Amino acid sequence: MTVHFIGAGPGAADLLTLRGRDIIAACPVCLYAGSLVPEEILAHCPEGARIVNTASMDLDAIIAEIETAHSAGHDVARLHSGDLSVWSAMGEQIRRLKARGIPVSVTPGVPSFAAAAAALGTELTLPGLGQSVVLTRTAGRASSMPPGETLENFARTGTTLAIHLSIGHLDRVIAELTPHYGPDCPVAVVYRASWPDERIVRATLETLGGALDAGISRTALILVGPVLAGEGFDESCLYSTDYDRRYRPQSADSPWSSWSHGDD
Ligand SMILES: C[S@@+](CC[C@H](N)C(=O)[O-])C[C@H]1O[C@@H](n2cnc3c(N)ncnc32)[C@H](O)[C@@H]1O
Repeated sequence: MTVHFIGAGPGAADLLTLRGRDIIAACPVCLYAGSLVPEEILAHCPEGARIVNTASMDLDAIIAEIETAHSAGHDVARLHSGDLSVWSAMGEQIRRLKARGIPVSVTPGVPSFAAAAAALGTELTLPGLGQSVVLTRTAGRASSMPPGETLENFARTGTTLAIHLSIGHLDRVIAELTPHYGPDCPVAVVYRASWPDERIVRATLETLGGALDAGISRTALILVGPVLAGEGFDESCLYSTDYDRRYRPQSADSPWSSWSHGDD
């Protein structure tokens, strides 16, 4: 018996990996985080599967549900939104399961920041403008931030920020970022990326406050940084005509000319 953690993607039911789909189809028990995992994904569960929405359960109750499945020898598909590597609460579940000797597997999913970038049609790393993406959040009612992880510290780099779980603290976000990025810095808020009611608001740090309406109050990402302008960047060397590289040596003298895949 194994508990299979599966990233269920950002919202659209077809943004699920084939591996995730096949594991769900093979598990007689499915626990899903119902606040953000789309119900259509549950259609992959086998007939007669026990399907439990964990949105209103605490950790003890979730682990008890898994222990019951474990005693019966039933594999469990455990679905969380987006990818499991960020803000999924997978870590605390795995810690408890390991302590009980219950095996786990992890299948990644499409994270919401990637779905938001896709909705914008934007690359978040552009030569000369931003070469890093900081996935972060602000402190919430239930979560404090480690002391060094302030927006101000990340803002000092000037790179692209993907700020999660923070649409309710917009004023604070704008106030902390503006001294570093400037009021004209482009921003985008993507609400429910890939869901049917997805919305996109593009603005600057100065205009963002007035550009959002009360309908965008949760499940939104705030993306900040010069890359959001989508212009003013250099072309990458990768596809430049005269760039000497492994897959496109430019002369017989190129160190890449004698390279073969076997060398890798
Ligand atoms: C608990 S975290 C889950 C993150 C998730 N594990 C991931 O990979 O993106 C929830 C936050 O992620 C962001 N989020 C999740 N799904 C989203 C979506 N479809 N569109 C925009 N933001 C989303 C929002 O900032 C939301 O407050």
